[in-house]
Formats: sequence, C-alpha cells, structure tokens
Amino acid sequence: MAKITFIEADGTRHETEAETGATVMETAIMNGVPGIVAECGGACTCATCHVYVDEAWSETVGGPSMMEEDMLDFAFQPKPNSRLSCQIKVKDALDGLVVHVPSRQG
Ligand code: FES
Repeated sequence: MAKITFIEADGTRHETEAETGATVMETAIMNGVPGIVAECGGACTCATCHVYVDEAWSETVGGPSMMEEDMLDFAFQPKPNSRLSCQIKVKDALDGLVVHVPSRQG
C-alpha cells in the first residue's frame, strides 16, 4: 500500500490508499477522484489520465516511455513533469506521492 494524494486544479485534495501493483490512474478511478477520465482504460492511447507529478517526486517516479511521451503531445497543457497516470505503477517507494490533476483533460 502507498498513500497517494491527488490535488485538483482548484486545490481540493484527495488522499487515497493505493494498492501496490495497481496504477495511479486505477487508484484515482477507484477513489472517485474528479478529472481523471481514463477513456482507454489504461492502454496508453487516450491521454485523458494526464497528471502533473509533484516536483518533489519527479525523480522517484521517473520519466515517460517513448510511447507515453508521444501520447502526452495530445494532453491538455503538458509540462516537463507531465505523466499519464495509467503508466505509473504503484510501489512502496511511491508512498506519499503527490500528483496534480490538470484543470481539464484532452
Ligand atoms: Fe488512456 Fe492512460 S487511461 S492513456
């Protein structure tokens, strides 16, 4: 288990308990976090699960794969710390992770 905090664009915080092996996207959906749409269900083909990884966690989370990076071009206002949350697997090292949800998807 890992504690993951999602922060909406308006500052609303959602503190969740994520299961190891699930993805950050699945954690958001299971906990009803608004703003994570995940149209493709985690296949890395929609970019509607876009999040900004908190600066303090960028290094631990790491960067996107080439395929994910291509999809991020379709995300709303991508930044250097953008990731597709379906491509981040929950692991113990991510306990305490903070991600920011963009004001909209797509
Ligand atoms: Fe579609 Fe992540 S859920 S790219």
